[in-house]
Amino acid sequence: MSQLGIDWTGWLQRWDDQQAGYLPDREDQFAVMLEIVERLAGTPERFVDLACGPGSISARATARFPDAAITGVDLDPFLLEIARHAVASNRVRFAEADLRAPGWDAVLGDQPVDAICSATALHWLDPAELTTLAKTLAERIRPGGVFLNADTMRLGPTEVPRLDALAVELRDKIWSTSHANGVEDWETWWKAADAEPAFTDLLARREQRFEDRHKGRDITLTDTVDAFRAAGFAEVAVLGQVADKHLFAAIR
Ligand SMILES: C[S@@+](CC[C@H](N)C(=O)[O-])C[C@H]1O[C@@H](n2cnc3c(N)ncnc32)[C@H](O)[C@@H]1O
Repeated sequence: MSQLGIDWTGWLQRWDDQQAGYLPDREDQFAVMLEIVERLAGTPERFVDLACGPGSISARATARFPDAAITGVDLDPFLLEIARHAVASNRVRFAEADLRAPGWDAVLGDQPVDAICSATALHWLDPAELTTLAKTLAERIRPGGVFLNADTMRLGPTEVPRLDALAVELRDKIWSTSHANGVEDWETWWKAADAEPAFTDLLARREQRFEDRHKGRDITLTDTVDAFRAAGFAEVAVLGQVADKHLFAAIR
């Protein structure tokens, strides 16, 4: 327990449990991501947790790379507040920014970064927004540095409609099995946050940040590969896949 009598670590744990319902091997996935960072880029000095939410990757990166300067970036002031309280390290900093906004990367400071990791977040963007984001990341990651993203990337409703539909069905089955087994879902987690009076102001600010949220076409794997190739990454590939969840890797 801490400021406002809130158990911030408990909220992060509850978030992790809820998110694992959508990505049952999430913990392993995070460990694999950090291992890939180390193998491809060495022990990072500067590491970014992109669309960090309440800081799940940052927490693990802090433990694995205790000397790295870690920056978590997200648009949600409420989730960032959890991160700031729950991820305790003087090497980690959380910054609010909208990845769709020009110049958002000013929050990363002046130095090039060694690695940027993201999970279950960039599917909130449109394909065009992802293309712009990839260009910005290419400018920010040093040569030989790495970008990793574990997220939903559709196989392609027009390119491979039957396989795409099957992947979505398989993904929905994973989710419904988790929830049938009692794992808390996204809506229930947010209802619980809404019910906490100490969060009222933060949640109102969150509402404002996302009020213009529009969702165009879902990002596909091809969109992702094309965006990072076009941005100038030297190598791009999928290193892991379950249904339409991909672990995408790009070397700058
Ligand atoms: C499902 S959560 C995942 C959070 C975290 N990466 C994790 O794995 O637990 C998606 C995150 O993306 C963030 N997000 C969505 N759109 C964003 C944007 N345009 N700019 C910054 N963050 C964004 C949301 O605020 C949210 O924290």
